[in-house]
Amino acid sequence: MKEKVHYFVVSKSPGFRELTRFILEWQYDCVVTTSDSESAALEYLRQIDIFPHMIVYEYVPDAFLVEDFIAYIKESRKPVHFLVLAEKIHGPTGAYFESYPTFHLVKKELMWGKIFGLTQESFRGIVADNTEPMCRLHMEGLDSITGIDKDLFLKLPSGKMVRLFASGSANAADRQKYRDKGVQFLWLERPTCDWMVKQIQTQFHIFLSNKHFQFIMRGPEASAEQSFDQKIIRVCDELHLDPDFKKEIELVMEKVMDTVQKDIHLGKVIKMIREHNPDVSYFAKNLQLTSIISCFLAKKMEWHSKTTLDKLVYAAVLHDITLATKPHLQRISGISEFEEVRAQLSEDDQKTYLTHPRDAAQLAKSQFKFAPPETDVLVLQHHELPEGKGFPTKIHAEKLSPLTQLFIVTQDFVRYVMNEQDPSLEMYFLRAEARFEQNVFRRFILLLKKFKSKT
Ligand SMILES: [Fe+2]
Repeated sequence: MKEKVHYFVVSKSPGFRELTRFILEWQYDCVVTTSDSESAALEYLRQIDIFPHMIVYEYVPDAFLVEDFIAYIKESRKPVHFLVLAEKIHGPTGAYFESYPTFHLVKKELMWGKIFGLTQESFRGIVADNTEPMCRLHMEGLDSITGIDKDLFLKLPSGKMVRLFASGSANAADRQKYRDKGVQFLWLERPTCDWMVKQIQTQFHIFLSNKHFQFIMRGPEASAEQSFDQKIIRVCDELHLDPDFKKEIELVMEKVMDTVQKDIHLGKVIKMIREHNPDVSYFAKNLQLTSIISCFLAKKMEWHSKTTLDKLVYAAVLHDITLATKPHLQRISGISEFEEVRAQLSEDDQKTYLTHPRDAAQLAKSQFKFAPPETDVLVLQHHELPEGKGFPTKIHAEKLSPLTQLFIVTQDFVRYVMNEQDPSLEMYFLRAEARFEQNVFRRFILLLKKFKSKT
């Protein structure tokens, strides 16, 4: 029989084991075995005749037999590539990772690059791509994923595939019935696996730092709103935002939108949001994420009176409302980007963009007298910048109220998330810290970073 690359995946997390197996099998014609503990892994390695080519181990300090497991692999003297996902290995075995060329300490976010790189480099004679039209996914891997709206198949002993669940119909309870009957794997068509793998890999590092993270799949035909939704869920997860407070904010949002919907001019926009009209997807999701992030930042600053939260949500709903059906304008970060794209905009669009903070502030003041005081100020100043480089009043950001400063930073962050295909918080922090070095916005960037690191 033709030799295949053999991977051995060791992790306590069923989702980790099975999603890793799924991706490896999708990519290569290979053998993947798994183990849920160091002791079970030791037992497995001791009883097999041929060692795996690569071991992928999700390291947990102080786990039972962890040192023995690592030492056993060293003493076995087998030419196995041993990949350990960790920042550092505690105890004397940590030194192995510096002295053995086949021992690799790998940062979690670099895991896939390292696995694929080593495979191509070290197993050249035996590695082969998987070209089968179907790939399998273990039921335990499926538990970590939602939103697969594609057919799932069962493979009969004869090799024949039968459709077990038609697109999107496989909920956890239904799957459990088949698990109880001993079904372990379901099969998917390769084009479905292609987009799933891409998304799983992009979000894998979030999953590794938050075991309850659910991958939400978005098919190539997903709407803009679904794709924004997915990004919002990812960001809230990465920032470890408390779901109860998030719900509280969403309730405030609903109330504010109820009020705005009654307005003769602006009610139409809110109705469009509630009907999921794609023309206002960007606007709807921008106001949602703006409300969430600004209220979380305010809470962290201990500015969490009802009035402050109401003010932030009102401002989130109103600040760009005159651009609601013009996402190409709403995406523009500020006056310097506007100048860059100005020539491509119609006269009307140019005017609409330049006047939108004043127009929206005017609406906030005249139409919504019950909005908390100074909501209109927040709206008017939402594009101001340090050193007077913003617009429309060119007031120096240093002279703005702290709440306005918080709102401007929120805008900057939300626009980054909304505009990037695959937003990376690390990348955002790098850019924002460089841009807002030495000024009043920096403390809010540091607060966002604290959310991410849970400090
Ligand atoms: Fe704006």
